[in-house]
Amino acid sequence: MIYLDHAATALWRPSGVEETMMLAYHSVGNPGRGGHEPSMLAAKYLLRSRQLLARYIGAESPEEIVFTQNATMALNIAVHGTLREGDHVITSMAEHNSVLRPLYLAQKQKNVSLSFLPLDDKGRIRLDLLETLLRKNTRAVVITHASNVTGNVTDLSEVCAFTRRHGLLLIVDASQSAGSIPVNVRENGVDILCFTGHKSLLGPQGTGGMYVRKGTEVEPLFAGGTGMDSFSREMPAAMPERLEAGTPNVSGIAGLGAAVLYHENYDDAKRHHAEMAREKNFILRVIDIPGIRLYGDYAAEDARRVPIVSLNIAGVDSTELSSLLYEEGGVCVRAGAHCAPLVHTSFGTVKQGMVRFSFSAENSEQDVNSAAQLLRTLAQSLRA
Ligand code: ALA
Repeated sequence: MIYLDHAATALWRPSGVEETMMLAYHSVGNPGRGGHEPSMLAAKYLLRSRQLLARYIGAESPEEIVFTQNATMALNIAVHGTLREGDHVITSMAEHNSVLRPLYLAQKQKNVSLSFLPLDDKGRIRLDLLETLLRKNTRAVVITHASNVTGNVTDLSEVCAFTRRHGLLLIVDASQSAGSIPVNVRENGVDILCFTGHKSLLGPQGTGGMYVRKGTEVEPLFAGGTGMDSFSREMPAAMPERLEAGTPNVSGIAGLGAAVLYHENYDDAKRHHAEMAREKNFILRVIDIPGIRLYGDYAAEDARRVPIVSLNIAGVDSTELSSLLYEEGGVCVRAGAHCAPLVHTSFGTVKQGMVRFSFSAENSEQDVNSAAQLLRTLAQSLRA
């Protein structure tokens, strides 16, 4: 098997993740709900992971880190917890459904209006149009840091300059960037950053969370027990408990902390360099395949990319091609629509979809060469 679907879920995880998860799994009680050793241990694991995440993304304090099941849940909390009746939001056509669907729901439920930054011919978000979309009732910009289809990275400093100039909230979807390229919330003036554990962060599925800058008001989307203020009918005011109802996934979150520790120790720049080397080698080997079309800004510098290559071969159906890649060479990719419908609208690939290859530092050069060679062979036979 050649696994090139890391943008969906990373297959390889540092050994410390599993070890920490197992240790936590077999020893923890319920965090914040008792003074005994197992309960205290659970609270310690959570705090440790909060501290690690906070340091990793440049937050001021661990209380700014809220744990959720995934980035989707975090984005739902961010959207529904901040937008009010009649607000206007600027977003982009590069967004994943984890951003779009909560926004469409807010449109339906709260009469929120939406404006979309279009994409250029390389799938880059047209940030130069930000000012033109501003309205009196604009409250937030909700934008992806890196596209799950094109691998293009958004220049957050440009978005931040705009949101600061107009006193808007900046909500960022870092699902595809965290763990691959630096995400610094303070440098980039981010108010809320949503992340997932199971992609480039190399943590377990079912973990994720959000950074909420101190002082940013977010109404809870979920209500329930937190282990504090039990007689209050409301969720506590204290963060992060305000947004964390119910018993958390302590062993998963402990594993996520171990993954972040791995990133700190390993040197992320080296990791990103390695994954981008795989991307470049792949492109070099497929670029001259007759009928190939690549979707993304592949000439951009490494800092502006995450290792994702989406493509099509002439009019060949993307799901047919991906099935053949798997059947004939065990190459695992994602095909069809990629939960980012407006990207497909922009590129005119609503019907065809795209075949997405996504790389990791753990892939060998041999993986890349074999996948590229098979793609070439299949392209030839499918077009013949
Ligand atoms: N969001 C994930 C992807 O792009 C699942 O594949």
